[in-house]
Amino acid sequence: MEIGSEFWIEKDSYEINYELLPSWLSRFGDTVLTSSGRGAISLLLQQIDPKYKTVLLPAYICDSVILPFDEQGYECYFYEVDKRLSPKTGSIKSYKNIGVFLHMGYYGFFTNANLLKVLQDLKEQSVIIIEDITHTLFSKFKRYELNDYYIGSIHKWFGIPSGGFIASDIIVKQDLLDPPNEFINLRVSSLQQKFEYMKSKKKSLKDAYLAGFRKAEQLLDNDTGIYRIDKTSDMIIRNIDIKDIENSRRLNFEFLLKHLNDIRGIEVIFKNIENNVCPMFFPIYVRRDRDKLRSDLITKEIYCPIHWPIPNQLVGYLNSTIKNISDSILSIPCDQRYCIDDMRRIINSIKELI
Ligand SMILES: Cc1ncc(COP(=O)(O)O)c(C=O)c1O
Repeated sequence: MEIGSEFWIEKDSYEINYELLPSWLSRFGDTVLTSSGRGAISLLLQQIDPKYKTVLLPAYICDSVILPFDEQGYECYFYEVDKRLSPKTGSIKSYKNIGVFLHMGYYGFFTNANLLKVLQDLKEQSVIIIEDITHTLFSKFKRYELNDYYIGSIHKWFGIPSGGFIASDIIVKQDLLDPPNEFINLRVSSLQQKFEYMKSKKKSLKDAYLAGFRKAEQLLDNDTGIYRIDKTSDMIIRNIDIKDIENSRRLNFEFLLKHLNDIRGIEVIFKNIENNVCPMFFPIYVRRDRDKLRSDLITKEIYCPIHWPIPNQLVGYLNSTIKNISDSILSIPCDQRYCIDDMRRIINSIKELI
């Protein structure tokens, strides 16, 4: 079985069942579900009136987070993070006249645990504080009370056609459009085709869903519009069993940790996993030629994404730490679709290839 890449959904595996919003989301405050994380950021930017139209973002970031700020005419600045993916507080303090500050934990870990004093200082300067909890959605550590807003992308955790959100104690006004049909239909059909492919291994299905996902991604790339979540995703979110998500990911992560920790040629980024962490992936640094290892793993049907290629907005501004992270990091899948045998296959493949 192939490991990694897009999730799938079973046809009609969901029922019309309007449960309340689950506590894993409602614990962050009043929540509005959107069709994407970038849409949630756009919605947020409609609500706020910061002192300066500037945003300070981590330099280790996905370009789709920068996009809505860019489009709304914000000047974007970037602070440094270190090799363990923690923000460098000195870098944050070196910026003045900031209107919005965004921080995040990576891969499920509380890598932003060193920010209390920084956030207090920013708050005193009336800076609006956002935490992007895309990576830490299911981790249970306590969040900063100084956060004004939470935003995130949900579709990275399980199979849904679309999904992002904004949450806050400050009421978020919402006047959302329906998501574009073309995008949702493409995502639904591709997710279902992938499900069929995983059962039948029919090559034509694979070609079809890959083309579908690609087209849907292109549509999303060019659209920071503010849309409500589609009905299918909304239903899945309200009914999903997150215990299974948390348990499987933690077990898989622990197994990878035990067996990949001492392999020469790679460096494990998080060497232990506290009880309150739900990991997104198992990230490693590959000491030499990450791209070759990645493509060799693909020949064994193991698909590891890279978080993230350097966004265009950052080219030319980067220090060597971020460049090294981006050039050598590899995210190994450890999600709820897989069991220990799958993790064993990944470990054996890496040992053989490295
Ligand atoms: C940390 C983070 N936040 C937000 C987003 C935007 O999410 P979406 O793809 O749902 O727009 C991404 C996308 O990769 C992300 O990695």
